[in-house]
Amino acid sequence: MSTNPSRRQFLQATGSLAAATVLPSFGFAGVHNGVDETIQVALVGCGGRGGGAAMNALSTKHGPVKLVAMADAFEDRLKGTFDNLTKAAKDKVDVPEDRKFVGFDAYKKAMDVLRPGDVVILTTPPAFRWVHYQYAISKKLNVFMEKPVTVDGPTSRRMLELNKQAEALGLKVGVGLMSRHQKPLQELHKRVMDGEIGDILLVRGYRMHGPAAYSESLPKPEGMTDLEYQIRRFHSFLWASGGVFSDFYIHIVDQGLWLKNAVPVSAQAIGGRHYKANGEGVPFVDQNLDTYGVEYVFADGSRFFFDGRCIHNTHGIYSSYAHGTKGSAIASRSGDCGGPSSIFSDHNMAAEALKWQSTDNSNPYQNEWEALMDAIRNNKPFNEVKTGVEASLVSSMGRMAAHTGQLITYDQILNHEHEYAPGLDTITADSPAPVQIDSTGRYPVPMPGQKGIREY
Ligand SMILES: NC(=O)c1ccc[n+]([C@@H]2O[C@H](COP(=O)([O-])OP(=O)(O)OC[C@H]3O[C@@H](n4cnc5c(N)ncnc54)[C@H](O)[C@@H]3O)[C@@H](O)[C@H]2O)c1
Repeated sequence: MSTNPSRRQFLQATGSLAAATVLPSFGFAGVHNGVDETIQVALVGCGGRGGGAAMNALSTKHGPVKLVAMADAFEDRLKGTFDNLTKAAKDKVDVPEDRKFVGFDAYKKAMDVLRPGDVVILTTPPAFRWVHYQYAISKKLNVFMEKPVTVDGPTSRRMLELNKQAEALGLKVGVGLMSRHQKPLQELHKRVMDGEIGDILLVRGYRMHGPAAYSESLPKPEGMTDLEYQIRRFHSFLWASGGVFSDFYIHIVDQGLWLKNAVPVSAQAIGGRHYKANGEGVPFVDQNLDTYGVEYVFADGSRFFFDGRCIHNTHGIYSSYAHGTKGSAIASRSGDCGGPSSIFSDHNMAAEALKWQSTDNSNPYQNEWEALMDAIRNNKPFNEVKTGVEASLVSSMGRMAAHTGQLITYDQILNHEHEYAPGLDTITADSPAPVQIDSTGRYPVPMPGQKGIREY
């Protein structure tokens, strides 16, 4: 065995799966000589994206791969996704009843099924990411985790600390910022780094459409705890998701950082909440604003402007752009990272100024899994957590600037002391919800100018 053995070498040498716990590196080069070469996958957070990520894992060209365990806080969510996955990929779903786990400690039981070097998918609301990542590292598992990876300063610092352990173990960790694996954006990024549009002076991004997913919430119905309500409608609650700003806007924010190849040093922002009740006059109780406009500043003084809006019957824009001293670029033409990406010789971006346009149509959600699985099979370095934390923090920085009405620096958000949901590693179904309604039946909403640099 070499000093840095692949998982195959280790398993051949020991003939024992259990002994693999001491493995110092988690490449998985395909196992022979009677040892199973299937990468086992557990899914923690069996909602829409969890089901999608599991399908991407099961569809990889770097198989064989099998889904062997599932965990969710709520039984109905687990059942729905199990049924869908079984329909779509029956041969690769091996999750009998005793490997389906429900509750707030279900994540541990699902990961306990896996062997070191297998893969866990973390697709709960982001508030739980550090809790689940911590356990995955202790089990020496490779990880795919969805964005955002944090929603506040304290958990961002915790994720960066935890990640040092993952790096020391050589774990492979993918983060669901799939723009980074969208081939048109990869090519655009290379061209921008090669100077094709000169020095970047301005990046712009927009996500403006009607209310979506759980951006708005009416008061909690009877028959459900407040905790369950807040988790099920996580886009409505800052502790659970960072609200629509973090959860919806992070992809476009991430593209701004990637194209500028830097994180901004500060942000100032505005925002408003115009419609506080539905058509029947029932008040919305979520913590989101309806509109956001952020000016991020990079160290060289260049700017990144981002606008977000969730209001019906308004002009829709959902795209991102860069402007340099020699021309401009469309990064995402439509949606989180929809192609084609383009480069233009001027700033009007008309057809006659087009210099390059991408042609690849491959699926970035599948691409990100091919990259992760390739790294696992072939023991290549792969850890996207730092990028994930930076994009999450810069999203939180813009959100906090709007919610407080203050200029927020990157250092301030990184070192901020307000942890929105402390103790999520010990939460149970009976725990109090992290935010409570007041005497008017409302959860705290941002009050710019009233609370210093606290969002609520
Ligand atoms: N990359 C992308 O384009 C993309 C797209 C959609 C969602 N996402 C991300 O994926 C994550 C999940 O989003 P979704 O749309 O699938 O939401 P969802 O509500 O459909 O799924 C979340 C699931 O996690 C479960 N859950 C909540 N807390 C849990 C806990 N503590 N332990 C176990 N299970 C728990 C919920 O019951 C639910 O089934 C979010 O972070 C979201 O931002 C990313």
